[in-house]
Amino acid sequence: MTSPKKLHIKSYGCQMNVYDAQRMADTLAGEGFVETAEADDADLVILNTCHIREKASEKVFSELGRLRVAKDEAARRGRQVSIAVAGCVAQAEGDEIIRRAPVVDIVVGPQSYHHLPTLLARSRAGEAAVETEFPVDDKFNFLPQPKAEAIRARGISAFVTVQEGCDKFCTFCVVPYTRGAEVSRPAEKIIDEVKRLADNGVREITLIGQNVNAYHGEGEDGRTWPLGRLLYRLAEVPGVLRLRYSTSHPLDVDDSLIAAHRDLKALMPFVHLPVQSGSDRILAAMNRRHTASDYLKIVERFRTARQDIAFSSDFIVGFPGETECEFTETLALVTEIGYAAAYSFKYSPRPGTPAAEMRETVSAPDMDERLARLQSLIDSQQSAFNRAAIGSTVEVLFERAARKDGQIVGRTAYLQPAHVMAPPDIIGQVKPVRIESLERYSLLGELAPIGALTSPQPAASLSPTGA
Ligand code: 5AD
Ligand code: SF4
Repeated sequence: MTSPKKLHIKSYGCQMNVYDAQRMADTLAGEGFVETAEADDADLVILNTCHIREKASEKVFSELGRLRVAKDEAARRGRQVSIAVAGCVAQAEGDEIIRRAPVVDIVVGPQSYHHLPTLLARSRAGEAAVETEFPVDDKFNFLPQPKAEAIRARGISAFVTVQEGCDKFCTFCVVPYTRGAEVSRPAEKIIDEVKRLADNGVREITLIGQNVNAYHGEGEDGRTWPLGRLLYRLAEVPGVLRLRYSTSHPLDVDDSLIAAHRDLKALMPFVHLPVQSGSDRILAAMNRRHTASDYLKIVERFRTARQDIAFSSDFIVGFPGETECEFTETLALVTEIGYAAAYSFKYSPRPGTPAAEMRETVSAPDMDERLARLQSLIDSQQSAFNRAAIGSTVEVLFERAARKDGQIVGRTAYLQPAHVMAPPDIIGQVKPVRIESLERYSLLGELAPIGALTSPQPAASLSPTGA
């Protein structure tokens, strides 16, 4: 018997890349590949890349430099290693990648992962293997579903792509160019995928998409379903204990989504709702198509529907022309909302986007200083939010054994890691936990009797300096 071929996939960037990496592994399992955690033993290495900011994009080329040495070393020992670049850098740069890094054998854009076996065969036959078209065939019809063992091995929380691409064209963002126009999968396909995951032990489903709440797929009744309608249906799937979705655009928050938060216990009260800036002039220059006050009103609608809801967000500092005064409007918005968590980035010009042509740039020291101020405000809000959990009893979905013997780690509704001493058969269950302390970002607690839940402190009442 020949030993199986080994596959190593290194993913950068967003959750969609994590999901795509699994689909690529499932496709290549059909070709006899098993996954390895070590790039050095692999026969095929795939770099699943991210193009969102320059730093993310440049990481690929430094990794390719390292892989060139490993590939040459393997060749000296008579072993052929293939290297593929997938993801958004592949899509944006196409065969330019092979010109810049001849070590690369295959370049494959996100819409063509179902063609990986053919591309691999082509490259092994010495032919060019670059595919970055937006094909007319729907890759989801060709990508195989994972085997039961693969689902079990990946744990109790899984991502499911419900839509891809984005039509919003924020002026700083490459996504509409790398992932293409917004396309939603039919609800039936999503429901089947979720059922299969739940039948194999998955208890938490995160629906993902570049603009997930723009979802408008064909429903089981032949009508177009918005995301809220899909969530109601998925909440009925036996075994699904928790539902989440990411990433949302404020403009696409509709009544069905708000109602889903009001009605569905399985839908977690934690929403990632990027706002990017608190200045209306900058929001307009970003083509976000909402103002800071529109955003506040949307947050209020969620809060009215579900009192314990909390928010996370993305911010960009130093967008072209951002003044100190406009930056302080961002700080003011953050203070007003009170986030449970947030990501903030320095603006990075992306080739081909309208903002990259804007001439009024913000200096590097100003950007650094603004980023530091924003991050310190967000950190203080996050710490206050985490500290507020101490003394309460909250539901935790247990995921896996922790590093410390006898401890099991799970997550709260707000994705805070929570550690308790508990038997391993608790994995996959939601249990009440009395939170006793906070260690960095992790909560420590004890299993509590059923019915001991206290209602979490509404995020709105948290102040950044602590309760
Ligand atoms: N520069 C900096 N940050 C960016 N993002 C997207 N494009 C850029 C860019 N050109 C950030 C946004 C987005 C998150 C995924 O990445 O905040 O919400
Ligand atoms: Fe990019 Fe999100 Fe704007 Fe779409 S909505 S263009 S993905 S930042």
